[in-house]
Amino acid sequence: MIEFEAFFSRSARTAERSTIRELLKLAGRGNVVSFAGGLPDPETFPVDELRAVADEVLRTDAARALQYGTTEGDPRLRAQLAAWMAKDGLQVAPDDILITTGSQQALDLVGRVLLEPGDAIVCELPSYLGGLQAFRAYQVEMVGVRQDDEGMAPADLAEALRRLARAGRRPKFIYVVPDFQNPSGITWTQERREQLLALAGEFGTLIVEDNPYREMRFAGMAPPPIAALDRAGRTLYLSTFSKTLAPGLRIGWLAGPAAVIERCVTAKQAMDLCGPALTQAIAAALLARGGLLTRLPEVVARYRRKCTAMLEALEREMPPGVTWTRPEGGLFLWVRLPEGLDAGAMLQPALAEGVAYVPGQAFHCDGGGRNTMRLNFSYPTEAQIAEGIARLARLVRRESAPAIHTIHRRGTTVSD
Ligand SMILES: Cc1ncc(COP(=O)(O)O)c(C=O)c1O
Repeated sequence: MIEFEAFFSRSARTAERSTIRELLKLAGRGNVVSFAGGLPDPETFPVDELRAVADEVLRTDAARALQYGTTEGDPRLRAQLAAWMAKDGLQVAPDDILITTGSQQALDLVGRVLLEPGDAIVCELPSYLGGLQAFRAYQVEMVGVRQDDEGMAPADLAEALRRLARAGRRPKFIYVVPDFQNPSGITWTQERREQLLALAGEFGTLIVEDNPYREMRFAGMAPPPIAALDRAGRTLYLSTFSKTLAPGLRIGWLAGPAAVIERCVTAKQAMDLCGPALTQAIAAALLARGGLLTRLPEVVARYRRKCTAMLEALEREMPPGVTWTRPEGGLFLWVRLPEGLDAGAMLQPALAEGVAYVPGQAFHCDGGGRNTMRLNFSYPTEAQIAEGIARLARLVRRESAPAIHTIHRRGTTVSD
């Protein structure tokens, strides 16, 4: 028998196996309403358009679409993306865009070219789990900064940067998901975005703006992306077609300064030579037809309905002491249970009750957030949302009972 343990790299050895992930495999069972995934509603997939465009691409451009492509990505798609991003005030040349295999690959590429073991990065509390996983693989210290309803708390960010500076350290970057954040659903105000840029400038660090949900806005006004407010060019901007078209295309992109893109291209070459030329050609053709813009209102309306259904169900079902965010877009909202409840410990009973979620602790690089959870509203139907929230509320009431009992008992002891 070969002892493979001795062969694994430190990074592979230290990557944690998630017990939550193992538990959530049970969420796939027929009778469980799952708020745990992050999947778009398959009803939003543009099946007919994609079939028509794929047919056209294969009829007219098969030699190119089925061949290896350049590592940077299909030039037509990069040109389309530069034009698409301009609507948000992002002035990016096609050459400054790298097409990636989902934006998840862009996160790994950023880690690969910027991070060394022992480096520090700053991220939100809570933060996107896949981002934390990607950066953790490079054995960095992650410094979490508290978030409130308007984004990262600037005083806390300033303090974290000062503390690092006092220790002679400068974080390589600040990682943020400023629009309808996964997991919290929160959107940063413009003021917070500007404060972030000012602090990043003062402490000489970069910003990684991960923005997969920007188009999924169903209420309120959109503040500009951080990269659009950035006069110094210190922001790397990531986005994806996973929510606007379909995650199965695996098309994401990274836009940023040429010096960084160049290094990422070299790193990507070693990973996969190039992204799939076929799906890039299809996406480029779809964008050229205007097929992205025309379909978004319907997708957004669907998610607005589902989010409203979840908010109404929470209002109806949850006992006092439970609070939640009210997202203006995206796929998720965030629930805070009364102090003392542990959403991680409640997952198994929740699955027995027939409902699944992701415990909030998983999204906290500092191990906090025990009494929080992420709920996804894009995938379940409205009927499932109503039923799932009723089940969850029953469980929360049951789990709260001992805590309330203890408070009563304490009260009695005091009055005794
Ligand atoms: C914040 C964030 N970044 C990146 C990704 C990765 O998306 P993809 O690789 O499908 O583009 C996701 C997926 O849910 C996400 O929520």
